[in-house]
Amino acid sequence: MKHSSDVKNTDKPLPIVVLISGGGSNLQTIIDRIADNTINAEICAVISNKPDAYGIKRAQKANIPTEIIDHSQYDSRESFDAELTRRIEKYQPELIVLAGFMRILSDDFVNHFYGKMINIHPSLLPKYRGLHTHKRALDAGDSEHGLSIHYVSAKLDGGPVILQKTVPVLENDTESSLAERVLAQEHIAYPQVIQWFSQGRLQLIDNQVILDK
Ligand code: GAR
Repeated sequence: MKHSSDVKNTDKPLPIVVLISGGGSNLQTIIDRIADNTINAEICAVISNKPDAYGIKRAQKANIPTEIIDHSQYDSRESFDAELTRRIEKYQPELIVLAGFMRILSDDFVNHFYGKMINIHPSLLPKYRGLHTHKRALDAGDSEHGLSIHYVSAKLDGGPVILQKTVPVLENDTESSLAERVLAQEHIAYPQVIQWFSQGRLQLIDNQVILDK
């Protein structure tokens, strides 16, 4: 089966919705790369499941509409996801970008947006799905660590990988020094992938990622 991001679309900015839970440094680089015309996209809205996420302030500063859907006010994952679906669809995005969005999503939600939703994860998947990836790489004595950008599928951090970047682990690395170097690479890689989307260069066919077919 062929999925949507294959629409050739060179002029119109790609409408995207960004989901966050925290600081939003990846969101900031996307805002900045749109502003300097590196990415041909428009952020229609930033949605956070945490009312105090600093990324909301970044969006407001850039005059981007924001929405808070406080997950603690919902009695089930399904009811939260139903509201999230409703709010996302209001903006009719062609791409949903998870940028430090730290909620597990229900299978129905993920399947509904399959092929149109991407995530960035701070490890070289399939290694270290889930949390504390930098600590786990250090504890394992890995010589390399990194990041992955992938389509979101029903398997947590398990969807088809679009791009990975490796970062060497240095002898005196701590969790925070390693996280900082990975994050610096995230800020280069995520805009790159979003630009591929906006140029219609990515396709997902039978769960295989194809660039420039
Ligand atoms: C980033 O390192 C991102 O890869 C990670 O959260 C951080 C968010 O930073 N995401 C995950 O761990 C998802 N499983 P930011 O809010 O400054 O962009």
